[in-house]
Amino acid sequence: MEFKFVVLPGDGIGPEVVAQALKLIPVIEDKEKVKFSYEEGLIGATAIDQTGNPLPDDTLEKCMKSNAILLGAVGHPKFDLDPTAAVRPEQGLLKIRKSLGLFANIRPVKTFPVLDPISPLKEHLLKGVDFVVFRELTGGIYFGEKGRNEDGTEAYDHCNYSVPEIQRIARMAFETAGKRRKKVTLVDKANILETSRLWRETVQRLAPEYPDITLDFMFVDNAAMQIILQPANFDVVLTENMFGDIITDEASVITGSIGMLPSASVGEGISLFEPIHGSAPQIAGKDIANPFATILSLAMMMDHFGLGRSAEGIRNIVSNALESGMVTGDITPDNPRRTSEVGDWVRDQLQQTL
Ligand code: IPM
Ligand code: MN
Repeated sequence: MEFKFVVLPGDGIGPEVVAQALKLIPVIEDKEKVKFSYEEGLIGATAIDQTGNPLPDDTLEKCMKSNAILLGAVGHPKFDLDPTAAVRPEQGLLKIRKSLGLFANIRPVKTFPVLDPISPLKEHLLKGVDFVVFRELTGGIYFGEKGRNEDGTEAYDHCNYSVPEIQRIARMAFETAGKRRKKVTLVDKANILETSRLWRETVQRLAPEYPDITLDFMFVDNAAMQIILQPANFDVVLTENMFGDIITDEASVITGSIGMLPSASVGEGISLFEPIHGSAPQIAGKDIANPFATILSLAMMMDHFGLGRSAEGIRNIVSNALESGMVTGDITPDNPRRTSEVGDWVRDQLQQTL
């Protein structure tokens, strides 16, 4: 069995965290008796610097011929400081999502008990936190018509959603809830937005097809509060693109380090796996970035390939690493291990335990 994937290291800490995940590939090949072949592609600021394009055609072509994509991170401050820049690294990410039909971004949020002391939340709130956000990824205000009036003093961004766009991700959320604690929370702003009312109506209509799932609704402003006040109450959170962007960043810090959370973007065929953190340019190239979010993204990719034993094995080793203090400075500022050291340790453990 041969699996083909594309590696898009991207910007900032992207290349160094991706390198740690790739150390596990030969071990998995050996233990699972499978073959992987992968090639690299350019995306983001690195791609702009080399080609002028944040997602060169060559990268997209490679992706379309593969089964999956492992992405590091995209973004560079030189573009953030210039709101007039015509070409931006983030456009590469939006284009790959749209071109590959990656309409559902799945972000699991699970606490690791050893990290509870460094969470910004009080420890008693962290018990049993285990939810997953289904964020719509190819619609809404991100992709609606945008523009300015003639003299540039007014701007608009349209938010559009259609029934089929809502249905396809809602089905995924219901199906996932069926394998979990059987609850879906739709996060919207239906007291204000027409698109949110369409979400509610559409999801309510689907609900009878999933009689064992409890569906509830929460306005996004309240959800932002409840994620902090009672994170253990959520199971599957379903939401549109922009709300999902915001609440997943909020949710990511609950675990104690944003460097821990993986994500999968899935849809019409090829899937993309990436850490939810950004490119962290201020620490790039120093061998100090936390590689676990990317290593856990690789575990999600192994699940996608049907290699569940490797996926579970990787997750167990990450838990062990946390318990053994084999962690970077975001977790133990007093006794940090280097990114590459953590990667070697995980590889060696996988070799011994799988
Ligand atoms: C994310 C990021 C992206 C988004 C940016 C980099 C375009 O914040 O994946 O959450 O807003 O979707
Ligand atoms: Mn984001």
